[in-house]
Amino acid sequence: MLRIAPSLLSADFADIRAQIQAVQSAGADQLHLDVMDGRFVPNLTWGPKIIGDLRKLSPLPFDCHLMIVEPERYVDAFRKAGADIITFHYEATDHAQRLLAYLRSIGAKAGISLCPQTPVAMLEDIIEDCDLVLIMSVNPGFGGQSFIPRSYEKIRQARALIDARNPGCMLEVDGGIGASNLREVVAAGADTFVMGSSIFDTPDPGAALEAMRTILAQV
Ligand code: DX5
Ligand code: ZN
Repeated sequence: MLRIAPSLLSADFADIRAQIQAVQSAGADQLHLDVMDGRFVPNLTWGPKIIGDLRKLSPLPFDCHLMIVEPERYVDAFRKAGADIITFHYEATDHAQRLLAYLRSIGAKAGISLCPQTPVAMLEDIIEDCDLVLIMSVNPGFGGQSFIPRSYEKIRQARALIDARNPGCMLEVDGGIGASNLREVVAAGADTFVMGSSIFDTPDPGAALEAMRTILAQV
């Protein structure tokens, strides 16, 4: 199954109800919510309060991408706010296996993300503990950046690891994905595609998402 996860980072929050409705009607599979703390990444977004409020606007799975230091301090709050998938960064905690197991124990899907400099090999001893692996194809922190080409090789490596050891695990890619490279990202082996600017920085986010869905139907 190929999933589209629109990232609300690029959405217009003055009109967030309509923006969510548009991508939901167009067939979004999950909503990607980027949490930034100004420390792990040089940008700030929102915390559990906003996610709890957004929860009232959509039944779609909430895919929370935590770009924060010491994520273990906050995962309970995000789970209580309504996060279904909680993804933290390998680089942001000393005890990734413990946190993955903890996420499952509180009923969340356990996700781990790798920045562009972190090799896929870092997942070798924890892949069975993951429900989602998120390969960052840009340096996290901002929407609208260019896809880093080396990411294709990382996606292929992650696909091989997942197929061999944990085939149910989702393989998500985030950053610089749009109509021009979506096919290649699929071909490399990803099954879940985060898209921010290529959906929301357009006049009609619903139509933009439908165009991506059409591409996925043809691969
Ligand atoms: C960036 C975030 C992304 C962001 C992607 O750090 O993790 O989810 O919204 O934006 P685009 O799709 O514009 O690269
Ligand atoms: Zn993200």
